[in-house]
Amino acid sequence: MALSSPYSGQCILGGGHVTQRRFCNIRHRCTGESNKRKAGAHVSHMRYSKTGLAIVVFRDLLMLQSIGQDTKKMPERLQGKVAIVTGASRGLGRQIAETFIGEGARVSLIDLKQKWVEAVAEELDADGQSCLGLAADVSDREAITRAIDMTAEKFGQVTTLVNNAMWNRYEPIKDIEQDTFDRMIGVGLGGIVWGIQAASKHMAAQGGSIINIGSMAGRLGSPNALLYAGVKSGVDGLTRAASVELGHLGIRVNAIAPSTVTTEGVKAILTEELIAKRLGRTPLGRLGAPTDIADAALWLASDESAFVTGQSIAVDGGLGHALM
Ligand SMILES: NC(=O)c1ccc[n+]([C@@H]2O[C@H](COP(=O)([O-])OP(=O)(O)OC[C@H]3O[C@@H](n4cnc5c(N)ncnc54)[C@H](O)[C@@H]3O)[C@@H](O)[C@H]2O)c1
Repeated sequence: MALSSPYSGQCILGGGHVTQRRFCNIRHRCTGESNKRKAGAHVSHMRYSKTGLAIVVFRDLLMLQSIGQDTKKMPERLQGKVAIVTGASRGLGRQIAETFIGEGARVSLIDLKQKWVEAVAEELDADGQSCLGLAADVSDREAITRAIDMTAEKFGQVTTLVNNAMWNRYEPIKDIEQDTFDRMIGVGLGGIVWGIQAASKHMAAQGGSIINIGSMAGRLGSPNALLYAGVKSGVDGLTRAASVELGHLGIRVNAIAPSTVTTEGVKAILTEELIAKRLGRTPLGRLGAPTDIADAALWLASDESAFVTGQSIAVDGGLGHALM
């Protein structure tokens, strides 16, 4: 009996394909922690299973135990990587950092306040060796460059950058003020430009992966989102341009375009009515979970996507193709 899948949460058992979704079709309800999503994670899924399914889980669990040794040998997918995640103190950034650490990366967490990143670093860093919390405003070229240089100094290299930080305000076109414009463009586009500039210097030695968090709002229009749509379609454009310019250094640049994920940031700007409307239009029948986005980032950060660059990948439950 062979355990042949390298993917956490998926095991090939005696030719039968056993996935988490067979036990629980909304994975984030189960644990939300990538390191629990390896083969043994089926235990926690039993809580959510109906009796019949629980028996199947139990049977498969016994089979997993019998190959437990192999399970422990599964390689971590980001072993040896040094990642920087901006906007990492909450929401998608925090989940991406947690997922990366769970897969063996050392991670520098960047956000506006030192105490925010330190609190998250303490929580995520079991051995005290995998995390560095740094305060920096990504729209400030000097500050983000310093933070990236400090990461390289601490961990010896930089292989991965996730440009996730964003400051957002939804409002009608007639109400947009200069300050709002400056801040959204400065964080959402400037932050990525300065991040790529600083990180690519360090990546030139061994190559790397840059992941920009865009949005489906960059592809689909919605009221009150003029600046947000402009920033996020800009993210797709600069992703393509950077991939072409940096490809010869072995640096890949990709973007992820999520649809709605109910993070604190989203709850603060979208009404419940709007969130319900988006849900109603999503073919897969649910909103995104932070782990959906973190899993896509994990793939782009890993060598499994070694020949993928210049792409903007929709992680949207099918929303982008739904006419109604
Ligand atoms: N949540 C969603 O539904 C959704 C959908 C599509 C795209 N996105 C994108 O995903 C990313 C994360 O979204 P989220 O919902 O987790 O947001 P969030 O508001 O919950 O978190 C954003 C983080 O960025 C930090 N930040 C803001 N300005 C910063 C700056 N100048 N420098 C450094 N850090 C700064 C904030 O402090 C915060 O920790 C954003 O780029 C967002 O546009 C989110």
